[in-house]
Amino acid sequence: MFENYFETLKNLEEASHLRSIKSFERKDGKFIYIDGKKLLNLSSNNYLGFADNENITDEFLSFAGKKYSFGSASARLLTGTLPVYKDLETLICDLFQTDAALIFNSGYHANVGVNSSLAGSGDVIFSDKLNHASIIDGMQLSRGKFFRYKHNDMENLEAILKRERNNFKNAVIVTESVFSMDGDIADLRKLVELKNKYNCMLVVDEAHAFGVFGEKGLGVCEELGIIKDIDLIVGTFGKAIGSVGAFVTGKKVLIDYLINKARSFIFSTALPPVNIAFSKWIIENKLPYTFDLRKNMLVIAGKLGGQSHIIPYIVGENDRTVELSNILYANGYFTLPIRPPTVPAGTSRLRLSLTADMTEKDLAGLFELLNNNK
Ligand SMILES: Cc1ncc(COP(=O)(O)O)c(C=O)c1O
Repeated sequence: MFENYFETLKNLEEASHLRSIKSFERKDGKFIYIDGKKLLNLSSNNYLGFADNENITDEFLSFAGKKYSFGSASARLLTGTLPVYKDLETLICDLFQTDAALIFNSGYHANVGVNSSLAGSGDVIFSDKLNHASIIDGMQLSRGKFFRYKHNDMENLEAILKRERNNFKNAVIVTESVFSMDGDIADLRKLVELKNKYNCMLVVDEAHAFGVFGEKGLGVCEELGIIKDIDLIVGTFGKAIGSVGAFVTGKKVLIDYLINKARSFIFSTALPPVNIAFSKWIIENKLPYTFDLRKNMLVIAGKLGGQSHIIPYIVGENDRTVELSNILYANGYFTLPIRPPTVPAGTSRLRLSLTADMTEKDLAGLFELLNNNK
């Protein structure tokens, strides 16, 4: 009975695709400790250093005391909504100047909920080919049809819109702002133009940009001054904010619709109040003071050729990517090899993800090693 599972795992191993869970001893800012070895951690989403930070934890706990419990014991629509959830949603609306916001348990839940419910039977979704797995899973659960346009290729999207838009009722265009595996940035202005021209909704996932881009740290839409043009913005608390969970914000009718139709929202126990309080505390008390740090990180990234703080170093072959990752490891740099199916076949890579406490000097050594091992 289990033979085909063994077989699949063996095939994955042979193709250097087998995934396994590693455990780390300790993380401290930009460093990670493995088998007693201290490495520069280029594989985290802890962009502003708020996760795994003893000082931050102490400060938060002295503010929070015993006010917030560690379990909500219910879904939001039953008895899972305490004032702190509404307070965080109100804070998100105040920051984005939007009509409504809804907290989900994670970015994965948010994208699955939004993309599975917005497009019903007779509707359509147009999605960037490199959108995150959570967006793809959401579309696959939707009763609507979906088309994937070539990555960041606005001509290709427009050609598909011309051909297909009129065959459907409601239409959604969905994109990430900063792409998680490539670090490049969607052409959001053009997407706004196309969504208006072809009467679509536009959903933007700012998972990697929330807390990093924009004067207030709200993301690329803030930086471009186009928040009001986007129907729904998704942001996560598990990356730059150093917490867990996600929000969706935008038009009230759509948020009300999600409350009623997004099954990943409806049928899951709400996050613990303490986590909600932590996200709110970071956004209110820490994020406003990070502008210089964030700017500096993006300047350093720019000098290394990145459009954002995520810099892909594309190698191609799986084995060579793993080998390179091992060479970096031996020299004190922790970079996980990213392989298919996370990225398209033949584009295996090292995903270098910077954090605000990294210096140019930290990274110069890394790039020297990469150049010497071409
Ligand atoms: C673009 C994008 N959206 C959503 C998610 C999921 O967010 P979370 O980790 O909060 O589930 C990720 C995380 O990897 C992501 O990269």
